[in-house]
Amino acid sequence: MKLLVLGATGPTGRLIVDAALQCGDTVAVLARRPEVLGSLAGLVRVIAGDATSSSDVARAMTGQDAAVSALGRGRSVRARGLFTQAADAVLKAAERTSVSRLVWMSSFGVGDTYAFAHPLQRVMYSTVLRDIYADKKKSEEAIRSSGLAWTLVYPTTLTHGPARGTYRVDDRVKVKLVSRVSRADVAQFMHQAAHRPEWIHRDAVITD
Ligand SMILES: NC(=O)c1ccc[n+]([C@@H]2O[C@H](COP(=O)([O-])OP(=O)(O)OC[C@H]3O[C@@H](n4cnc5c(N)ncnc54)[C@H](OP(=O)(O)O)[C@@H]3O)[C@@H](O)[C@H]2O)c1
Repeated sequence: MKLLVLGATGPTGRLIVDAALQCGDTVAVLARRPEVLGSLAGLVRVIAGDATSSSDVARAMTGQDAAVSALGRGRSVRARGLFTQAADAVLKAAERTSVSRLVWMSSFGVGDTYAFAHPLQRVMYSTVLRDIYADKKKSEEAIRSSGLAWTLVYPTTLTHGPARGTYRVDDRVKVKLVSRVSRADVAQFMHQAAHRPEWIHRDAVITD
């Protein structure tokens, strides 16, 4: 598969790239700071650009089979429109290219998953994370109503631990108050989901 990864300079995105390369995919990355990629730049096609620009995303999407996004705001709790603008850019770019498959990383507690979060988790989601979650929710509404073959991925708290392969993933998963999943496991899942038609038009809540 020819796979475009958005957010490849972030910890989860980087692991998605690693998983794709290990499985023999041809990988392209769109990065606004390509210099951060280091030696990885020699193993992937690098497109310098911004994920909120539809022309930059279209350049990166050209010739790809699927796109996987692990875009994020790092430690910031302010979205600054990243997710809505990037989703808009991806959907516009998809109309101009052959890409119809999209695997998009969200967060547990966004959208419908809020309803089955623990009450204490909901407090966090509706206060500290309110801005970022609202922007994510809006971006996902746009993706859901698009013609793309999407998968929306909702991980619980991310860790830097190793991939264990023992995670639970489904459209709805019973989640404990303290729930975690490693970025490595999420990356493996997101990469596999891009290859698996059974995950099309589904939410994937992923946790330990
Ligand atoms: N932390 C948690 O417990 C948790 C739990 C569930 C879900 N999540 C979600 O998981 C996702 C990934 O998180 P993470 O910690 O692995 O990564 P992260 O540190 O948030 O990395 C974000 C990536 O997005 C890129 N990016 C941001 N804005 C961009 C733009 N305008 N154009 C191009 N690239 C842009 C960054 O590039 P630069 O290197 O240029 O900044 C970086 O590669 C996020 O959406 C986060 O909300 C987090």
